[in-house]
Amino acid sequence: MQPDSLDFEKFDQHLEANAHDSATRQTHQAIATRIPGWSGHLHLAFFKSIFAAFPIERVLIVGVYLGRDITLMLAGSNRPMQIVGVDKFSDTPCDDWPEEKRGMTWQQAGFGEAPSLEKAAANINAQPPHAVRLIQSNDADWLPMVEGQFDLIYLDTAHDKATVVRQLQQIRKLCHPGTIIAGDDYENILPTWGVKDAVTECFTEHAFMPSASIWYARARDLK
Ligand SMILES: C[S@@+](CC[C@H](N)C(=O)[O-])C[C@H]1O[C@@H](n2cnc3c(N)ncnc32)[C@H](O)[C@@H]1O
Repeated sequence: MQPDSLDFEKFDQHLEANAHDSATRQTHQAIATRIPGWSGHLHLAFFKSIFAAFPIERVLIVGVYLGRDITLMLAGSNRPMQIVGVDKFSDTPCDDWPEEKRGMTWQQAGFGEAPSLEKAAANINAQPPHAVRLIQSNDADWLPMVEGQFDLIYLDTAHDKATVVRQLQQIRKLCHPGTIIAGDDYENILPTWGVKDAVTECFTEHAFMPSASIWYARARDLK
């Protein structure tokens, strides 16, 4: 992907169409009834639009849970995708959990089923020509060891400011000038969240999709 081609005008046009498209809603509905998670039909509209507007083939998703976003990505892709997903896949608290929930399981904390590598792999069930590789690791330990570059990096683990700032530092070496970096939960639904602050601090420019709370930016705009 050439950096010069990183123009979001085409993406905006696709997004406008996909957000109101009944096929997008139906596809999302079929996936969401099968795979627990939080992403709505506008997440699928976002993935479809970003894949339609940019020649994205290599994707890194940080935060897989039970595989809903990866399945939405595959459903929204118009070309073979190579997706790498990393998650700690464990029934342990995350860094954005409130203090009083730190000793609890996912179910006890009210966040639903715990993340699971086996369930995510079965839910995603990637078939050629797509290739999905799931890694079980704490992302802070794994990101420094990764090599190569990605066209899209999607951040969706803990939403506290320190985590997102750390991730944006760690993924810098995995980007080429045309890489798009995006993530979920831009708005602070919980008091422990700080995605917006982190993104505002780390990029010279970024955009967000208010209806889905997804933010996105160009890697070349990382400060
Ligand atoms: C909001 S969920 C991700 C939702 C997911 N994108 C989907 O498609 O449904 C957050 C995930 O981040 C993972 N996570 C939190 N902290 C992590 C860390 N430090 N390293 C790896 N994964 C982490 C959790 O295990 C959980 O599965």
